[in-house]
Amino acid sequence: YEIYLDGLAGVLPDLPMTFAGLEAGAEAALPPSVWSYVAGGAGEERTQRANASAFGRWGLVPRMMVGAARRDMSVELFGLTLPSPVFMAPVGVLGLCTQDGHGDLAAARAAARTGVPMVASTLSADPMEAVAAEFGETPGFFQLYTPADRDLAASLVRRAEEAGFKGIVVTLDTWIPGWRPRDLASGNFPQLRGHCLTNYTTDPVFRARLKEAPESNPQATVMEWVSVFGNPLTWDDLPWLRSLTELPLILKGICHPEDARRARDGGADGLYCSTHGGRQADGGLAALDMLPGVVEAADGLPVLFDSGVRSGSDVVKALALGATAVGLGRPYVYGAALGGTDGIVHVLRSVLAEADLIMAVDGYPALADLRAEGALRRT
Ligand code: FNR
Repeated sequence: YEIYLDGLAGVLPDLPMTFAGLEAGAEAALPPSVWSYVAGGAGEERTQRANASAFGRWGLVPRMMVGAARRDMSVELFGLTLPSPVFMAPVGVLGLCTQDGHGDLAAARAAARTGVPMVASTLSADPMEAVAAEFGETPGFFQLYTPADRDLAASLVRRAEEAGFKGIVVTLDTWIPGWRPRDLASGNFPQLRGHCLTNYTTDPVFRARLKEAPESNPQATVMEWVSVFGNPLTWDDLPWLRSLTELPLILKGICHPEDARRARDGGADGLYCSTHGGRQADGGLAALDMLPGVVEAADGLPVLFDSGVRSGSDVVKALALGATAVGLGRPYVYGAALGGTDGIVHVLRSVLAEADLIMAVDGYPALADLRAEGALRRT
C-alpha cells in the first residue's frame, strides 16, 4: 500500500514502475556508447530477445482458498539463509553506469539495504575489498573470469576469500568477447579503455607482470590485461579450479544437461544456468527453456539462473521451473543509471514485491509448493 497511500497525498514514485520505463529512462540517462554496451547483445540479438520472450510461453496456474496471508520467500543456499531467492547477477563496467563512477559500490550498498546478494564481477571499477566492505550483513559472491595466468587466478580467489565473499562464481562463456555489433559500430569496448580493471591493477601478481606501474602506463596495463584475460578452460581444468578454494564453487553458463552432470561430478557446489543475457553468442535457445534440463541433471545441486528476467512474475516462473535463486541483470543496471543505490533498491524491492504478491494471489505460500504442485504450464 505504501505507494498507493503516497499517491493519495499526491506523491508519486520518482522512478519508473515498469521494465520498459527503466529501459527508456536509462537510455536517456547514459552516454550513448555506454547505453549500447549495456543494452546490446550478440549478433542480431535474437538470443537476447528469446531469453525474455520465453517467459511469455509459460503461465502460472492459480490456486484459491489457500489463505496465503504469509509467504515464505526465504531460501537456503550453500549453508546461508537468504531472505529471498533473488540476487544481482555479475555485471562488469558498473562504474560507467552511475554518475559518480562507483556503480559497484552502489550495488553493494543496495545489497546491504535489501538483503539481496550481489555477485561482484571481476571487471569492477572499485577493488573487490572495497565492494565487499559495503555488503553489511548481506552475503556476497565473487565472480571470477579465469585468467590465463594461474597464479593470478589463485591470487584473485585468495583476495575474495580474505575479503569475506561467500562463494566463487566462475564464468565459463566469456573467455573471448562475443560478436557485439553495437559495440563494434561504436568502437567501444570499455575494458580496452581500462574502465573496470581495478581488480587487476590492485593485484600483486598482476602488478608483478607489468614493466611499469599501471598509473604511469595505462595503455601497457590494458595490453597486459588482454594477454591474460582469455583462458578457454576445459573439463580437465575443473580439478584445478576446485583446488583453488574451499568456498562454494559455482559454474556460470551451464545450459546443457551433460555439462551439468560433469560439473556436479567434478565437485562444483552449484550450477548457474545463463546465456550471459544473450551478449556472447546469438542464435541460442532461451536460457529459461534450458533450465529444466539443467535442474534435472543437477540432481539436487543448487541451480542459479539468469537471462531475461524482467519482473517478479519472471522470478516466480524461473523458481517454478526449478531454479534455486534467480538473478537480475540489466534491470538493476538501469536502476543504477537512474538513481544509483536508491535506483537499484527501487528495482529490487519492486521485483520482490511483485513476486511476493503473485505468490499470495496465486495461492503458493511457499516456494516448494510452486514446483510440487506444478504451478507452471506451457501456454
Ligand atoms: C553482464 N554479465 C556479466 N556476467 C559475468 O559473469 N561477468 C561480467 O562481468 C558480466 N558483465 C556484464 C555486463 C553487462 C553490462 C551486462 C548487461 C551483463 C552477464 C550477467 O551476469 C547476466 O548473465 C545477464 O545480465 C542476464 O541477462 P539480462 O537479465 O541482463 O538480460
